[in-house]
Amino acid sequence: MIKERIIKKILDNNQSITIEKYIEFCLYDNHGYYTNNNIVGKSGDFITAPEISQLFGEIIGLSIYSLWKNIINQSFNLIELGPGKGTLLIDILNITKKFPKFQKSLNIKLIEINDDLIKQQKYNLKTNVLHTKNIKWVKDITSLSPNPAIIYANEFLDCLPIRQFHHNNGTWVEKMVNFNKEDEAFFTENKIIQDPATLSFLNKQDHNNILEISEQRDNYFHQICKYLRKFGGVSLIIDYGYYDNPNNFTLQSISNHQRTNIFDNPGTQDITSLVNFKRLIEIAKWHNLNIYTFCSQKEFLLSHGIEKRKNIILKKCNNKQKDIIEKGYERLIDEKNMGSLFKVLIVTR
Ligand SMILES: C[S@@+](CC[C@H](N)C(=O)[O-])C[C@H]1O[C@@H](n2cnc3c(N)ncnc32)[C@H](O)[C@@H]1O
Repeated sequence: MIKERIIKKILDNNQSITIEKYIEFCLYDNHGYYTNNNIVGKSGDFITAPEISQLFGEIIGLSIYSLWKNIINQSFNLIELGPGKGTLLIDILNITKKFPKFQKSLNIKLIEINDDLIKQQKYNLKTNVLHTKNIKWVKDITSLSPNPAIIYANEFLDCLPIRQFHHNNGTWVEKMVNFNKEDEAFFTENKIIQDPATLSFLNKQDHNNILEISEQRDNYFHQICKYLRKFGGVSLIIDYGYYDNPNNFTLQSISNHQRTNIFDNPGTQDITSLVNFKRLIEIAKWHNLNIYTFCSQKEFLLSHGIEKRKNIILKKCNNKQKDIIEKGYERLIDEKNMGSLFKVLIVTR
């Protein structure tokens, strides 16, 4: 159905569409990927850090507590973007049970686009956390009460669509998506950039040949920064991404834990791209915010006591549980994978 809609869009206008538009159709159309109910976890398409091990959410929870104590220390909005199955929030709430003043100060706001996931989040939170009265689902952060906030997200910004550009024989071109009626297949083609504003922007970028730009990601982060500037607080973003432009395209699609082609079955697989953290840091500085932490997931988890926490948990485990905890721990800090690919950015007012 989505495939037909994309083809119609291309053929009706007799012109290709941007990669950004293609991703928007695939993920956010009425029947797009993010309306599916079983995307996260072993039985879904991909697994995320909170689903790998409770250690992840516990360390994030303790860090959030410490940020709150040092910077906020009063009633505040704890806002999660894209909570998936609610697992990260459950681990945060459980590990901070021993801090009653923190728990009493919480106004939890969840921003989730997927109605089925909202149902799952409600069920999982009710089953795993005692008090859920202070949890509300909201559309966006602009309509919230003017409290300081801790706004956090794991693997959220990577979902937002991007455009792809490259420098070809001295000319900037954009990668576009077209459809071949004879082969009945999508294909990519280059379109020369003529718009002066886009050209001027591209020419200012680091002299790299390849660039991915996400206006939606930038706008989302601008909104977060504006909120912090106005009401105070902290943003904690964890995602897979880079600081220095890798000079290659990073768009990827995944279905049932396997890499796929982005043109396979539009609307039924996840499409993501690496987050440009240098850009987020520039935006935060533009809003006069402070870069509190920027490091890899491995550095963050190790410097915030994940090993010590693991050893405490291991004391209470049988051999099978010990094996699961050890494997989860290794995966979260694995230098060749999640540990270095994922970054943690904390900004404060
Ligand atoms: C990759 S999953 C990560 C889930 C969870 N944070 C975790 O770590 O397990 C992305 C989450 O963001 C939600 N999401 C994606 N785009 C969104 C948007 N534009 N607005 C709100 N939620 C969105 C998805 O439905 C899903 O819950």
